Amino acid sequence: MGWTSYNRQMPKKNEEVFVCSNCGTEYGKWQGRCDGCGEWNSLKQFKVSRSTTASSRKIVSGKIEVVNLAKIEKIGDNEMIYSSQIAELDRVLGKGIVRGSVILFAGEPGIGKSTLLTQSVGKIGGLYVAGEESGEQVLMRVKRVGVDATKIDVLETNDVDRVIDFLEQKKKDYKLVVVDSIQMMASGQIVGAAGSVSQIRESAFRLIEVAKRLKTTVVIIGHVTKTGDIAGPKLLEHMVDVVLSFEGEKNSEVRLVRAKKNRFGGVDEIGLFRMGAKGLEEIDGKINLADGEISRVGAVLSVVIEGNRPMLLEMQALVTESFGPSPKRVFRGIEFNRGQLLVAVLQKSLNVPLYKDDVYVTISGGISVRDPGLDLAVIAALYSSYENKAYGLVGKNRPVFVGEVSLLGGVRKANMQEKRQKEIERMGMEIVKIGDVRELKNLVI
Ligand code: TYD
Ligand code: MG
Repeated sequence: MGWTSYNRQMPKKNEEVFVCSNCGTEYGKWQGRCDGCGEWNSLKQFKVSRSTTASSRKIVSGKIEVVNLAKIEKIGDNEMIYSSQIAELDRVLGKGIVRGSVILFAGEPGIGKSTLLTQSVGKIGGLYVAGEESGEQVLMRVKRVGVDATKIDVLETNDVDRVIDFLEQKKKDYKLVVVDSIQMMASGQIVGAAGSVSQIRESAFRLIEVAKRLKTTVVIIGHVTKTGDIAGPKLLEHMVDVVLSFEGEKNSEVRLVRAKKNRFGGVDEIGLFRMGAKGLEEIDGKINLADGEISRVGAVLSVVIEGNRPMLLEMQALVTESFGPSPKRVFRGIEFNRGQLLVAVLQKSLNVPLYKDDVYVTISGGISVRDPGLDLAVIAALYSSYENKAYGLVGKNRPVFVGEVSLLGGVRKANMQEKRQKEIERMGMEIVKIGDVRELKNLVI
């Protein structure tokens, strides 16, 4: 990889160098703040005890070849992109996986990265580089998620050079190689333990190079960590073609894949999954919609927009008499201040005295949103719980509440209201049309 320092020449042997553990920028002197990424106190000292790749570069002798662009061998368009065999993942990627591209798949430990990629590689077929687990452990997961073990080759190693040597032998043309994980990979030719900035960067660089050359897609799994010692995959983000982040709350089963960078498509789609006993199941727009058709006290339906995608969810509220000195306000999934504000609007507009009541609000599936379009749903759920009455059905279905609420209780259209409307119509349901929260009075039965 190129030498990325802003302000210095390549270090000589035994020279000291300071490397930012966040983004990998290198400096000759220590400084408090990294110019590369703006992080404070992220510089770590390294000794260059051996020449790095860049400085060991040989003088090229002989002819340097240039290829005219039109003569570059083109793989047919159909073959350039292939499906990950997981529709939700394809959706986030744009169309699918681009051959020879490098995808960084980042997320907190335990979120399900290995699970999802085992499922994908088990369907497409490919190589699984197991740096963290033994082949037996990978097999156990393969059995659990129910994919075909014969489609996966496992290479148990932490040595990135062995991976590359193996791929170069080209005994088999792999479409897809999963490296689990980059933090475990190291090259014997580089100083530093696996997980150090220099090893992560060099391992990634080598994998990227081989991916482009052999037109094999390499998915690099990276753990997101917040400590400075182990470099987070941040520095990798600039190097790879696609960065996917896998998110979700540990104690909830809903998982979300988001593209943070995509050289081949947009970054506005998300993929939705649920972690189950047999791996990750795709969710088709509905998040944990408990008791779909029954209208219950304190629960209302709403539509949130995440990325570009409308999703049906259930807002739940509980209002109970408080026995403490100050009543509780617990909001899960929505911002605390927004929740406080909506409680105040409810008190004033519908004349509901909540100062002696504890208030709890939560979203089904444990997801968190920042979408003012859910305001009306929060108020509607709270009001229903307070009155101990459920909302009447619209036709055969539960009503859906969408809209931003003003301080005076007026209901405005939410952002991308039409998109939400369409999704709801597609499901055969309706969004409640009201202009003021006071009208909720007429909807409870
Ligand atoms: P894993 O894919 O190992 O996470 P990561 O690679 O991101 O660290 O999955 C972690 C959790 O998922 C683990 O606690 C067990 C759980 N899990 C399931 O609930 N169902 C499954 O089918 C599998 C394979 C894992
Ligand atoms: Mg894992």
